[in-house]
Amino acid sequence: MSFTVIEQTTPRVHRSELAVPGSTLALFEKAAKSAADVIFLDLEDAVAPDDKDQARKNVIAALNDVNWGNKTTSVRINGLDTHYMYRDVVEIVENCPRLDLLLIPKIGVAADVYAVDMLVTQIEQAKRRDKRIGFEVLIETALGWSNVEAIAQSSRRLEAMCFGAGDFAASMRMRTTVIGGLNPDYGVLTDRDARGERRFLQGDPWHAAQARVVAACRAHGLRPVDGPYGDFKDAAGFLSAAKRAAVLGFEGKWAIHPAQIELANEVFSPTPEEVEKARRIVESMEQAAKEGRGAVQLDGRLIDIASIRMAQNLLKKAEAIASAGRA
Ligand code: GLV
Ligand code: MG
Repeated sequence: MSFTVIEQTTPRVHRSELAVPGSTLALFEKAAKSAADVIFLDLEDAVAPDDKDQARKNVIAALNDVNWGNKTTSVRINGLDTHYMYRDVVEIVENCPRLDLLLIPKIGVAADVYAVDMLVTQIEQAKRRDKRIGFEVLIETALGWSNVEAIAQSSRRLEAMCFGAGDFAASMRMRTTVIGGLNPDYGVLTDRDARGERRFLQGDPWHAAQARVVAACRAHGLRPVDGPYGDFKDAAGFLSAAKRAAVLGFEGKWAIHPAQIELANEVFSPTPEEVEKARRIVESMEQAAKEGRGAVQLDGRLIDIASIRMAQNLLKKAEAIASAGRA
C-alpha cells in the first residue's frame, strides 16, 4: 500500500439513482415509494427554461412535504454557466433541511466545485444548517473528463462522480445511437481465421472514459456512478450496460425511468452465491493465516491476501444494503 491513506467518503447505498424532473409534480410521491436508493430531483436538462422557477418551487415543496423515508435525496442544479444556478443553490440549500446532496452538472474544472462549495458553506453557516450537504458531480464534458483527477480532489463535500454519456457524447462529438448505447460502427474486424473468415466484433465506445472516472473516484475515496441509458424500453440493453459498469467498479447506475430501478438494484447487489463464496474466502484465509500461509487453494483456485480484500469489499456492500433495509 502507498503511505498515502485515502479517506473514504460518507458511505451510502448507491445502486440506483432515479432521475425525476422537477417540473413533474405527479412523479414525486411515486419516486419516494420506489425502490431507488438515491433520488435526484432535476432542475437542469429535464426542465424547459420557462419552467425553471416553478420547478425550483416544486422541488423545495417536495423536499419538505413528501416522506422520503431513508432515501438519499439529491437535487440537480443548473450549470455554472447559467444564471439559474445561484438561485438554485441559495433557495434549495436555505429551504430544504432534509436534502442530502447537490448534483452539479457539467463540471469542467476543480474550481467549479470549489465555487459551489464556497456558496454552500456560507449558506450552511448563515442558516445554522444541521445536515452538511454533500456533492455529486457529473463528468460529462471533454473538459471535465480531462480534469477528472483534479475534480476528484476538489472538495471534502464530494461523495460521488457520475458519468453522463449523453452530454459526454455531445461534447466529444461522438456518434451514438441512443444515450449510453453502442454504435454498430464501433468494433474490430478480426484477422482471417483458419477458414479464411473474418468476423466483426462490436466494441464498447464508453470503456476508456468510464474506466478513467472509476479510477479517479476509487483513488480518492468517492463512489463512481454510471449515468443514463436512454432507451428505457430496452431492459436487456440496460442490463448489459449496467453489468459492464459493475464489472469496471461502478457502484451503481442512474434510472431515467422507474422500470430501470430494480434492474440496477439487482446488478449492483452481490448475489447470495457471491456472499457465500466471499465468506468462505475470508474463512479459508483466516485459517491460512493461523497456519502461517499467505496463499491457499479454494475450489481448485489459488486465493491470496488480495482475494480477502475483494471478498471483504463484497461483504461490506452486502451488509450496507441489508442494514439500509434494501436487501
Ligand atoms: C446526463 O446528464 C447525461 O448527459 O448523460
Ligand atoms: Mg447531462
